[in-house]
Amino acid sequence: MAFLTEQRRSHRCGDLRGSHTDQDVVLMGWVHTRRDHGQAVFIDLRDRTGLVQVRFDPSVDTETHALGQKLRNEYVVAVAGKVISRGENINPNLATGEIEVLAHTAEILNPSRDLPFQIRDEVTASEDTRLRYRFLDLRRPPLQRVLMLRSRVNQLVRNALVDDGFIEFETPILTKATPEGARDYLVPSRLHPGEFYALPQSPQLFKQLFQVAGYDRYFQICRCFRDEDLRADRQPEFTQIDIEMSFVDEEDVFRTVEEMLVKVWEGVHGITIPTPFRRLTYREAMDRFGSDKPDLRYGFELCDVSPFAADSGFVVFARAVEGGGTVRGIRLPGGGLSRKQIDKELGKTVATYGAKGLAWIKVEADGTWKGSAGKFFGEAARDAIGGAMGLEPGDMAFFVADKPSVVFAALGALRQHLARMTDAIPEGEYAFAWVTDFPAFEYDEDDGRWYAMHHPFTSPAVLDPEALVKDPGSAMARAYDVVLNGYELGGGSIRIHGADMQNAMFEVLGLDEAERTQKFGFLLDALSYGTPPHGGIALGMDRLVMLLAGTDNIRDVIAFPKTTSASCLMTEAPSPVPADQLAEVHVKAIIPPKKSDAEG
Ligand code: AMO
Repeated sequence: MAFLTEQRRSHRCGDLRGSHTDQDVVLMGWVHTRRDHGQAVFIDLRDRTGLVQVRFDPSVDTETHALGQKLRNEYVVAVAGKVISRGENINPNLATGEIEVLAHTAEILNPSRDLPFQIRDEVTASEDTRLRYRFLDLRRPPLQRVLMLRSRVNQLVRNALVDDGFIEFETPILTKATPEGARDYLVPSRLHPGEFYALPQSPQLFKQLFQVAGYDRYFQICRCFRDEDLRADRQPEFTQIDIEMSFVDEEDVFRTVEEMLVKVWEGVHGITIPTPFRRLTYREAMDRFGSDKPDLRYGFELCDVSPFAADSGFVVFARAVEGGGTVRGIRLPGGGLSRKQIDKELGKTVATYGAKGLAWIKVEADGTWKGSAGKFFGEAARDAIGGAMGLEPGDMAFFVADKPSVVFAALGALRQHLARMTDAIPEGEYAFAWVTDFPAFEYDEDDGRWYAMHHPFTSPAVLDPEALVKDPGSAMARAYDVVLNGYELGGGSIRIHGADMQNAMFEVLGLDEAERTQKFGFLLDALSYGTPPHGGIALGMDRLVMLLAGTDNIRDVIAFPKTTSASCLMTEAPSPVPADQLAEVHVKAIIPPKKSDAEG
């Protein structure tokens, strides 16, 4: 009997249980492993639901047994047989371990070449090899579990938002630049020589325009594109859960997102995450944790010891504060790190963030201090700093003295490093928080201009456009981030809904009239035709799935990811295109000389 024409698949491999005993089944899948025991051949047959053991026994059918002997790993086979109990030989490690399928007919649907790596939970192949053969890597059960989890999260998010009265719309991919702080990916226009579309960094302006048009409560699960430096939690194309609502304030957005995340965690992990989430201002997050996306699952909080720097006796501390910097420290209760660990690991961590050094001390049983900086402090300084930090005998403390941005970044990273080194991160805990009260602008000394800390459509907390232009430095933004376990899961804001304030914002950012009209004329127009007050947020879907799956590599949760140099090793994108294709879109490539050519 021919498989696929007369015999259809009846079950998936991983779904078979003891209750199927004595049933005739037809399975199709991949040979995961094969064991030839002489009297019988056993294979583990795999599909995306799992594995089931199939037995090819000559006493059932010699031809089928002979075919079983020919099977190799990753051959695609169809098997018809009877589900039988394994009796005493139950495999407790397999969901299907109570039974096996006794094959009476089988067919090789397609053989497989030898594999570049085995399809196993654990692989030794390099990530590059796995990315090159992503279609094989995606067969591995851990990746299959994550991608199926991702599909489930998509469904849970969509259901939660639709149940909450949201409507789903799509927005253009070929569009105009949206300023989200990264470079744009550009697409040349064939019909308009010399002109380019930009791929969206986010659907920010379109979702605001939906509000102008009266489509209150929009959402979209959408792809965004950003040409920026990549890290373990960033990809050049990624997915956002994008939300916008009319007639709302911050609390409405918070509640919507919390209710959605509760449903996601219930659906995926069967746990109810507590709401409302903790709130922290940006200032508090920086002061206490050295980060605007703090991991709140552990302590190691920063302590400001700047007030004691001048009289500390330690010239490094005194000079930093005199020069407008700050000195902060972290206490490690019970100490216990070796000098080598401190120099090699911790010193390296803070150096990555620009710190010139890491001072550390150890409190001895008699209250004196040892360590790299111990000898510099007199008794009064020890009492003052020790008191502020709550230091006790046996503790260690680590200090960075520098300009504030370096101190926070370095100690924020040190905090994480200490938590990992001392196993202080509780497994299975989810510490959500809202970070609020961000400054509206950051001043860039090098460029000599203000930049919006979120994006230029975020409402400042001031109501008067003139006041904003006069003193941008003290304006706060109605922006918020939702953070989880040290990651920024999402960010959003209440938006500017009046043309005057939007113009004031553009003025602070240095956009003249002509530039405003050229870049954002349509938005300024829209804002003058009855725009409702509105606000929203976007959550990173990839980061959400990463956190749910417990991985710290974003590439694990994306079916076809790019490397950190933004290439796809499987398709070899990006790649050169023929000159005539470039001519068609009126583009000429200027290829920079290779380093070796330039030197020669
Ligand atoms: P923002 O730029 O903060 O806000 O992006 C929202 C969320 O998207 C995720 N994210 C990324 N994920 C993977 N790779 C990247 N390169 C990447 N960049 C961002 C993060 C981030 O928190 N339009 C605004 C939202 C709004 O104001 O409503 C925006 O895009 O999880």
